[in-house]
Amino acid sequence: MQLNQILTDALKKLETVNSERELSEFKTSMFGKSGTLTALMKSLKDLPPEQKPQVGKEINDIRVAIQDKCNEAEVRLHKAAISAALENDKIDLSIDKPVTEVGALHPLNRIRNKLIDYFVGNGYVVYDSPEIETDYYNFQALNIPLDHPARDMQDTFFINDNILLRTQTSGGQIRLMEKFKPPIKMICPGRVYRNDDDSSHSPVFHQMECLVVDKNVTLCDLKGTLEGFAKFIFGEQTVIRFRPSYFPFTEPSVEVDASCFNCGGKGCRVCKNTGWIEILGAGMVNRRVLENCGIDPNVYHGFAFGVGLDRITMIQCAINDIKLLWENDVRFLRNFR
Ligand code: DAH
Repeated sequence: MQLNQILTDALKKLETVNSERELSEFKTSMFGKSGTLTALMKSLKDLPPEQKPQVGKEINDIRVAIQDKCNEAEVRLHKAAISAALENDKIDLSIDKPVTEVGALHPLNRIRNKLIDYFVGNGYVVYDSPEIETDYYNFQALNIPLDHPARDMQDTFFINDNILLRTQTSGGQIRLMEKFKPPIKMICPGRVYRNDDDSSHSPVFHQMECLVVDKNVTLCDLKGTLEGFAKFIFGEQTVIRFRPSYFPFTEPSVEVDASCFNCGGKGCRVCKNTGWIEILGAGMVNRRVLENCGIDPNVYHGFAFGVGLDRITMIQCAINDIKLLWENDVRFLRNFR
């Protein structure tokens, strides 16, 4: 009688159990340490021996019946919990929310990608060179020995006497030529660092180095390459001119100007009334640089140039403060979407 009552109550209770937590509480109340069924099992030992098998069997039947119902409830509640979660977390894909902001590449990255595309399209490989560099790769191998006055042109962040933040991507030339022998056509874009800070200089800026080494490479090849490059950036009507210059790693060295894309050479605000815009430094690779990399300068010749990506971006975006490229003010960046 008492046993039947326990079973009826338990089954009734199980029907009203509404959550996985309630079910777990119910199971504890039945099968836990001080649960009803546990207590019944314990009480068996107080019965006279001849009743033990019969009562034991009855208790066990009840236990199995309740356990079965618990399992069923568990499946039911688990399914319900999943359905509820799906219902609550539902995303209504039918809501037509207008997209208000579309991101865009930073103007500097856009120029960088554009130039990389151009050179890769012309058969150049892209070479990545370390930003933390040794004095050897940044200076000495580029024909700038320890006491060379040309070091003054690049106010350097030294980490110690030998390690520095690269001041130019030109060190990439050395690293590449140590590993690969001619024919070489490479560009090396990346960050460079100098202790400079004003409206047209930033302590961190970007350059792209270009190096071509092969038999019979001449200054004409350099000029043709740079003219194609200038036309690609500033338009088909662009022409370039060379002005003599000096870089220890090139001989001869030139400073390269492009005709002003804004006024076509007549003189305007963009070109500061000169009709020309200075775009980069270049030259024929100095034979000492080739020798430093184990390349015979009597057999191979090369040209190189280094272009300031921030500078090209500033010219193209018609801005005169380099900080605008760093501040990431969305009001500024939005203009270049
Ligand atoms: N590395 C030079 C600089 O930062 C730029 C440069 C000039 C690179 C002439 C070259 C080059 O490869 O041939 O001022």
